[in-house]
Amino acid sequence: MKAAEIRSTFLKFFESKGHQIVASSPVVPGDDPTLLFTNAGMNQFKDVFLGFDKRAYSRATTSQKCIRAGGKHNDLDNVGYTARHHTFFEMLGNFSFGDYFKEDAIAYAWELLTEHFHLPAEKLWVTVYAEDDEAYEIWNKKVGIPAERIVRIGDNKGGRYLSDNFWMMGDTGPCGPCTEIFFDHGPEVAGGPPGSPDENGDRYIEIWNNVFMQFNRTEDGVMHKLPKPSVDTGMGLERLAAVLQHVHSNYSIDTFSALLEAAKKAVDEAGALDCDKDSASLKVIADHIRACSFTIVDGIIPGNEGRGYVLRRIARRAIRHGYKLGARTTFFHKIVGELVNQMGDAYPELRQAQARVTEVLRQEEERFFQTIANGMEILEGALTPGLKQLDGELAFKLHDTFGFPVDLTADVCRERDVTVDQAGFDAAMARQRTQARAAGKFKMAQGLAYAGVPTAFHGYEHLVCETSKVTAVYIDGVSVASAKAGDDAVVVLDHTPFYAESGGQAGDAGELRNPSSRFAVEDTLKIQADVFGHHGRVLEGAVAVGDVFTAKVDAELRIKSVRNHSATHLMHKALREVLGSHVQQKGSLVNAERTRFDFAHNAPVTAEEIAKIEAIVNAEVLANAAASAEVMALDDAQKSGAMMLFGEKYGETVRVLTIGSSKELCGGTHVKASGDIGLFKIVSEGGVAAGVRRIEAVTGDNALAYCQSLENQVGRAAQALKTAPAELETRLHAVLDQVKSLEKDLAAAKSRLASAQSNELLSQAVDVQGVKVLTATLSGADAKTLRETIDKLRDKMQSAVIVLGAVDGDKVNLAAGVTADHMARGFKAGELVNFVAQQCGGKGGGKADLAMAGGTVPAALPAALASVVGWVSAKL
Ligand code: ALA
Repeated sequence: MKAAEIRSTFLKFFESKGHQIVASSPVVPGDDPTLLFTNAGMNQFKDVFLGFDKRAYSRATTSQKCIRAGGKHNDLDNVGYTARHHTFFEMLGNFSFGDYFKEDAIAYAWELLTEHFHLPAEKLWVTVYAEDDEAYEIWNKKVGIPAERIVRIGDNKGGRYLSDNFWMMGDTGPCGPCTEIFFDHGPEVAGGPPGSPDENGDRYIEIWNNVFMQFNRTEDGVMHKLPKPSVDTGMGLERLAAVLQHVHSNYSIDTFSALLEAAKKAVDEAGALDCDKDSASLKVIADHIRACSFTIVDGIIPGNEGRGYVLRRIARRAIRHGYKLGARTTFFHKIVGELVNQMGDAYPELRQAQARVTEVLRQEEERFFQTIANGMEILEGALTPGLKQLDGELAFKLHDTFGFPVDLTADVCRERDVTVDQAGFDAAMARQRTQARAAGKFKMAQGLAYAGVPTAFHGYEHLVCETSKVTAVYIDGVSVASAKAGDDAVVVLDHTPFYAESGGQAGDAGELRNPSSRFAVEDTLKIQADVFGHHGRVLEGAVAVGDVFTAKVDAELRIKSVRNHSATHLMHKALREVLGSHVQQKGSLVNAERTRFDFAHNAPVTAEEIAKIEAIVNAEVLANAAASAEVMALDDAQKSGAMMLFGEKYGETVRVLTIGSSKELCGGTHVKASGDIGLFKIVSEGGVAAGVRRIEAVTGDNALAYCQSLENQVGRAAQALKTAPAELETRLHAVLDQVKSLEKDLAAAKSRLASAQSNELLSQAVDVQGVKVLTATLSGADAKTLRETIDKLRDKMQSAVIVLGAVDGDKVNLAAGVTADHMARGFKAGELVNFVAQQCGGKGGGKADLAMAGGTVPAALPAALASVVGWVSAKL
């Protein structure tokens, strides 16, 4: 059974059991800062398990794109070396949101495996959480698995609930005990049953994990009971395919065989000639092309931080393995085509992004091959003949400063019988670690524990709520009963008109007020998906849980943000129109001041293109079309052609925002009609990373202020040039022409001066045993004049040794000249000028006929010039 058929059999089976088939979410989770990459099918349902989000269904099934290459679930280092680990894999899952529980979940799993996939019952083993007698009984009594094939596994990872059979999404979030189903690949494969010392072999492979979701773990480690017990399962498609295709390794299934072949071809063509088709390196490459491509599809590009950094690490690991096999030029991006052949039908977004994915990888690959070339040069330089051990500091510097991977250093050294000073390397690494920024970028933004009612948001229609009740108050991250005047606090309300920062739009500011108290809201941020924290300070009285306030948004700041946000939608649309549909949003920040929009585009946006974009947006503004927001099913939104953003996690229903000709999914606040935006003006354009541009723009009164300030600058410049603003350009060109012609005149005058001075100087030459020696100070001469004067003197004197000096502020300029006859006797101008310069606190040199130098001690010049006579006579 091919992988594609397995996928559809799974989904259809659960559909027949009342499950809604839901599409995979992107590998880059939208709104979840606790998660680096989507690592399980349940991620997109996290808020449903937690009770924050409701769906129209209580049973769902998916085939989810997952990445486990960082964070809590990280398989990166195992890839290529076991038969079953991947950075990217597809997880088949069925989910119950407070609907069925253990008994049905186990019965469904058994029915599907034995009756639809026809797996022999005696080849299946199961594990249960040691304390979960209920699951044990179901397997043993209801399903009939004999006790010797049911293994109880307790807290085997060093702490309460830290167990192979207790699944957690991350350090926080939904979790619960689980039961895992294993397939026995038979005695010809090495490895022992689960729970045995040899369990990590490839014989007994876990194919399906059924998690009984019961708790939400918060950051303080406390397990809160979920509103309703639920089910979350995950089966690796690749592992099941290996079983059903009667192979012992995931890399032998249909999809991987094709990728391995493509990888071998690409690596061979890049210089490996005929690499070993069974090597672990090829497997690494075939695995990594999937993780890299799918992350790029979802808008990540290689970088030095966060997800971009993980992508870079995976890509470079693959390239390094290609290098190890003998590739010396780019090869990795050439495998994308075969990946699209294999997976483009199941995931059309991959096919659609093929060209972009290929290009991003090609660029990264070229950069990395250059890094390898630079590193090899340094390493070759250090590997002197007879060397026994490479300095650990150098190995670290190669790794840290030059990005040259340490295992490549080790490989090269091994080939030359040189060891690497590991202790020195570790010490350098430890030093750097302590300096490095603390990890934990992906923590919950607020980290505040909250168990009250969610906040109802009224800010689309209203800027004031008369009766907002305080449901929680926090000071310094700790929940308190009340805050008094002067306290900085976070206040949660049951109803609010304040928009909380999200989708790039900044949070609202404003005020909470009642007859006795006032609270200045400086910013609004989400504590959970729909719990809004109002950050600010108690100005008067106190704010206590249960108090009722009038909550009032600062209308002026809000309308400014709103204008910028709506303009961003129009600009996004215009950018795609002018630059092409490859333009994808990479980031946006909208506040009262401006909009900052980052997008994928490979070249600077020209002035002409900017003018076009401005014209399109301003035309939409002038058309003054009404804006409207409509909440609809995701499917309908898709059909309506609304723009969706990569990396966003969309729920069942979405909000579609229409302004003029733009239609985009958005939860932000917007103008009533496009005319409310006022003037739209782009104020800057630049690059922020490879392939990413940033545009900043202003609207409304900010745009007016911007134009007025430009006008003022022009006015002041015109005034300084004593002309009218309209004449500024003509006047400026005239002034520049004048400057040019004055410079020419000045140069001619200086040269005439040099000539005149040289005539006067001739008489100052002295005779040193038959050699004419001339030294002099030329007041006000620059280096060029000195050189010209030397040239003239050499011509005039025919035979001489000359040194000229000039003082320019606190600097000394020097020039020396030697005529041909004296050069032949071994006098060198370079040597001479250096001799003089050293006495003036400088140095210099040059050719034997003419040389220049500088110094820093003007007071020493006369004595230094006087010493030339001695220098000449010493040479004779
Ligand atoms: N969420 C569970 C897992 O990933 C099913 O193993």
